[in-house]
Amino acid sequence: MRISVIGCGYLGAVHAAAMASIGHEVVGVDVDEEKVRRLSRGSAPFFEPELDSLLTAGIASGSLRFSVDPREARDATVHFISVGTPQQAGSDAADLTHLDGAVSALMAAVKDGDIVVGKSTVPVGTAERMAQRLRGTGATLVWNPEFLREGWAVKDTVDPDRLVVGVPVLGDDAAASLPGTPTPEGERAAAVLREVFAPAIATGTPFLVTDYATAELVKVAANAFLATKISFINAMAEIAESTGADVVQLADALGRDARIGHRFLGAGIGFGGGCLPKDIRAFTARAEELGRGDAVRFLREVDEINLRRRDRPVALATEALSGSVHGRRITVLGAAFKPHSDDVRDSPGLHIAARLHGLGAHVTVTDPAALENARRAHPELSYVADRDHALRGAEVVLVVTEWDDYRHALDPERAGALVSVKTVIDGRNCLDPSSWRTAGWDYYGMGRPSVRSRAAVRSRAALDDRAVSGALV
Ligand code: UDX
Repeated sequence: MRISVIGCGYLGAVHAAAMASIGHEVVGVDVDEEKVRRLSRGSAPFFEPELDSLLTAGIASGSLRFSVDPREARDATVHFISVGTPQQAGSDAADLTHLDGAVSALMAAVKDGDIVVGKSTVPVGTAERMAQRLRGTGATLVWNPEFLREGWAVKDTVDPDRLVVGVPVLGDDAAASLPGTPTPEGERAAAVLREVFAPAIATGTPFLVTDYATAELVKVAANAFLATKISFINAMAEIAESTGADVVQLADALGRDARIGHRFLGAGIGFGGGCLPKDIRAFTARAEELGRGDAVRFLREVDEINLRRRDRPVALATEALSGSVHGRRITVLGAAFKPHSDDVRDSPGLHIAARLHGLGAHVTVTDPAALENARRAHPELSYVADRDHALRGAEVVLVVTEWDDYRHALDPERAGALVSVKTVIDGRNCLDPSSWRTAGWDYYGMGRPSVRSRAAVRSRAALDDRAVSGALV
């Protein structure tokens, strides 16, 4: 099929490449000339495993191209809109400027019978408004939210857990129709999308047809649920910290209940990124507009718990450094909001690094992929690409992103030889406390008892003994 993808950011670039990889002829359109140039060379403007090879293959075969000219979308019959809907400045609501711009651009390109497919995450009610705008062009709007995770974006696009397609439905006045029955155009649009996604459907991906509002809500509700699950376990971490319990064992035991499951029960410094934080805020703002703020008021709490977890490593570092981080050397392992990504938007780890810097610490940050973005966002911090170099002389090591390079490839013995004080704060509970302790480290986790090294315990006991015997006053 001939497909256009309007907006070639994270979502759109992956979508365009993925659509070409399953046999469609695709043009990606974006207003950013530099982005279009890079994509046309087969190079993604961000870090996403597998994407470059998909882009290169699509471009080489002639089935994928990029352009700044929206008129290039004219030959396509299915038009995906995948522009960003960031948080509005000074408000929790979503900024729909790019979406409105994309629809305006498409109005000049679409023809009778075309299908326009919204993929962006939007406040419920937006699709209906966009459909009104497109009325008169002869094109049918459907809403097909995207659930892709950074780092897994290609897999999530080619082989998603489910496909949700919101279509126009018959009104209440249509006699003998069940609520949510698609209009004839809705039926046709759903059939076209079944064709677009045929390979995924053939391998068993559920294809769920809904009305617009349900499709829009599935996306924000899914992100709200995931954020709630993370903040739930982080709230338990707070209780664990006051009771001596271990939240990692707690999460393991909870997750073994099949109704709960282990995923997204990782306690730590909380969620960040370009989606979960802004999506729960936009959802709350929209619910308040609808007069149903009460229904999702808990999401404010979810947000607050999440932000509060960023205080914990700062408090632990302060404690480990006997009351002040001022003038002390702290190495932060990680800057990306999660591994397999170079995205630092709302990165909890980078936020913590900046706070420690603000308190007068000498903070060195390293990350396998996100250093350039981190430097742009926080030029005041020191950045070192080489992990071992970054560790040299540290008085506290703080792990904020669970890259394999820290989680598995960092040997506590070897790291111990580089730092000046063996104190590690594991902001993602991703290290094995016992091997760090055996190597002589003081280990502080999130929501788990701190583990002092034997050496530290011995020297503290010796101090206590000397105090008792009068050697120390
Ligand atoms: C998320 C949704 O998962 C995806 O479906 C949606 O389309 C976009 O938003 P993404 O932003 O890529 O995807 O990140 P995700 O993998 O969901 O992680 C979000 C944040 O939660 C990260 O900062 C991660 O470190 C944190 N997290 C995740 C935890 O703190 N604990 C966990 O157990 C899981």
